[in-house]
Amino acid sequence: MGSTQKDVQVSYDVSNDFFRLWLDERMNYTCGVFEGTDNLEEAQVKKLNIIHDFAHLSPDKRVLDIGCGWGANIEFMALDKGVKDVHGVTLSPAQFEEIKRRNIPGVTAHCGNFFDYEPAEKFDALTSICMIEHVCSPEEARNGKAVELYRNYFKRAHAITKKGAWFGLQSILRNFVPRSQKDIRDIGWVTYAIFPGGITPRMEEIVQAVNPYWEIMEVKTRREDYGKTCWHWRDRLRKNEALIKDKWGTQVFDDYDRYLSACVTGFEKHYQSLAQWSLRRID
Ligand SMILES: C[S@@+](CC[C@H](N)C(=O)[O-])C[C@H]1O[C@@H](n2cnc3c(N)ncnc32)[C@H](O)[C@@H]1O
Repeated sequence: MGSTQKDVQVSYDVSNDFFRLWLDERMNYTCGVFEGTDNLEEAQVKKLNIIHDFAHLSPDKRVLDIGCGWGANIEFMALDKGVKDVHGVTLSPAQFEEIKRRNIPGVTAHCGNFFDYEPAEKFDALTSICMIEHVCSPEEARNGKAVELYRNYFKRAHAITKKGAWFGLQSILRNFVPRSQKDIRDIGWVTYAIFPGGITPRMEEIVQAVNPYWEIMEVKTRREDYGKTCWHWRDRLRKNEALIKDKWGTQVFDDYDRYLSACVTGFEKHYQSLAQWSLRRID
């Protein structure tokens, strides 16, 4: 079952203005791609282009973005790429408020659980940028449920698409357990305090779980890109230290500094990685 709405609110409903201070201007809360650039804004657009291409999108397609955050990808697909029929689903009420505020032409968003989401019409394509981390909890993973839960996610994705659909997916990966006491404590703390109810999947779990619904056509790993993304987020967070402590308190600043530092270390030491997947529906 993974993260509940209450869990998701811990992760994303701190305050939209808080996240606006240290994410890129589009408010992507996922790994950018620093190919030929050191700039976070450009890196995020490169990521959005890759997911667009992995989903084989074109303006005539009807697409759903699963776990659409504050709307970066649905806005990009509609405005930058001219996709005419764009939809998003998020479990976070605060993110949904931001999407409504953006009022993006041709885009609809739904605040609710993807697993209960019943679209009026099936989709030609899906995108999902780092929502699968919320599908299985640490307890469920320990009890051997991970592949079953991820397979249920891919089954649901299959059920709401048309024949021939493509799926551009991005996911953090859990590689191996930290080797130092401090790293074990920090990564464990991030899992429970910042992203309750979720755990990052292993690559082999996703490879198993897509069957029999989706064929893996391409995979690209980007461990170093996520390390850089977290470095940029922490840099911007620190540049706003005084303002953040004043508006949201010292604890919020300290928690987010600790979390982003643990992520910089986690990607550097291979505890975590990132993968972008191009999947084609099996009909
Ligand atoms: C790490 S954020 C990524 C947001 C966005 N894709 C981005 O790139 O910035 C994870 C997203 O998954 C959403 N989410 C988690 N569980 C969900 C569920 N069961 N149904 C719908 N959305 C969910 C959260 O609300 C959040 O928007």
